[in-house]
Amino acid sequence: MRILFAASEAVPFIKTGGLADVIGSLPKELTRQGLDVRVILPKYGDIPAKYRDEMSQLASFEVQLGWRKQFIGIDMLVHEGVTFYFVDNEFYYKRPGIYGYGDEAERFGFFCKGVIEALPYLDFKPDVIHCHDWQAGMIPVLLKAHYLHLPFFSQIKTMTTVHNLKYQGVFGQGVFKDLFGLSDDHFSGTALELHGGASFLKGGLLYADQITTVSQTYAEEIQTPYYGEFLDSLLRHRKDQLTGIVNGIDYDIFDPMTDKNLVVNYRDSLSKKTQNKTALQERLGLPVSGDIPMIVLVTRLVQQKGLDLIQHVLREILALDIQLVVLGTGEPVYEQMFRNAAITHPTKVSAHIYFDEALAHQFYAASDLFLMPSQFEPCGIGQLIALRYRSVPIVRETGGLKDTVQPYNEFTGEGTGFSFTNYNAHDMLHIIRRAVFFYKNDRDSWLKIGNNMKKGDFSWRKSAQQYITLYNQMTSHV
Ligand code: GLC
Repeated sequence: MRILFAASEAVPFIKTGGLADVIGSLPKELTRQGLDVRVILPKYGDIPAKYRDEMSQLASFEVQLGWRKQFIGIDMLVHEGVTFYFVDNEFYYKRPGIYGYGDEAERFGFFCKGVIEALPYLDFKPDVIHCHDWQAGMIPVLLKAHYLHLPFFSQIKTMTTVHNLKYQGVFGQGVFKDLFGLSDDHFSGTALELHGGASFLKGGLLYADQITTVSQTYAEEIQTPYYGEFLDSLLRHRKDQLTGIVNGIDYDIFDPMTDKNLVVNYRDSLSKKTQNKTALQERLGLPVSGDIPMIVLVTRLVQQKGLDLIQHVLREILALDIQLVVLGTGEPVYEQMFRNAAITHPTKVSAHIYFDEALAHQFYAASDLFLMPSQFEPCGIGQLIALRYRSVPIVRETGGLKDTVQPYNEFTGEGTGFSFTNYNAHDMLHIIRRAVFFYKNDRDSWLKIGNNMKKGDFSWRKSAQQYITLYNQMTSHV
């Protein structure tokens, strides 16, 4: 089975969010399980030089985009046993950052078309092109419209995976007409049309043979208007081809037993974990004590992540005997909120308004509690890392958070974290207080939660098997 992942980011080359973690780790596990999986990405200027220098050029040719013929190069390199291809065009990709340019439709339209047209040059003909998020959404559309009648392409199947339905790649219809040579019937309400424009993601959802998203609960949620982002009726219509498969994490990177960023490595020893906490307290200038519960937030500081709930009850949270340690960037209002809190509560709050991978690992290891009260969360990766590092998650019951964190039940002794249902600041506050209560007053419960976390498997092993089952189903009845 040959699978080509098409995506806009992947660890370790380029990352803005959880998508990059998935593309950097799922192919490794699928390869371990015997598939030939390769990945294709744009060759951004921001990919570190040490990787760019390792790449070799496989092919170069021209791609017709609207009336323009554009140079395209295909580079490759092998990383940890997985082959990565890179779509090269300096005009489109040699810019700082990876998103947010005015010609986004053209940049990722070029990527989608380039991926398809690169196939005959690759010496690797995929059975399935596995497209991720809106940036790869036009691949299934273009394949069906322009290529499937050609013998070389006729057997190729497509899968679209939604990592976040909110980002839809909506642009004016004129741009689509200019770039892709699609007939008018592609722009009706039952085709690409969305909000009067047209959408890459809607195309990917309509034209792919299979749709997946990154947790079972999110797969159900997006079929409702609240989470559906105006695509819920389409998703209900395609529900027989829609599957939720929860993400895993890269067990090579996230392992407290071998993690080089930690002061002390540990697996089950709470006292060794506490050494990481006291070392961090010392480093951050917080009071050094194993007994004060440390809550961390490692996240983009945006509304999706429940930051408005925190804003609403921050004063009450800071009245508790806790330490709050924050790492991340995002909307200025939330960045400023934590900067201010660190000034007004220097013995309780330490705010790091930037991102630093090594520090993130230290925060997971040092913390007792991991707060992630998202408004919606397709899967979420932070809580999985927290579970592996035995930082007890406090989450809202949505999407992947609901599927991966089991609320603690003091009567049965089951559960790996704490959760609340409604998107309500006081419900969250109540649950934070409950978690702090158990930490401080009920050591037995705390140890039980730790033991329950120990039994969890947050690796890719099972989820990769589920993808393989789907790939097999898709390719068997051709
Ligand atoms: C997006 C989602 C997040 C998910 C990640 C990887 O960033 O918001 O929930 O874990 O993609 O699938």
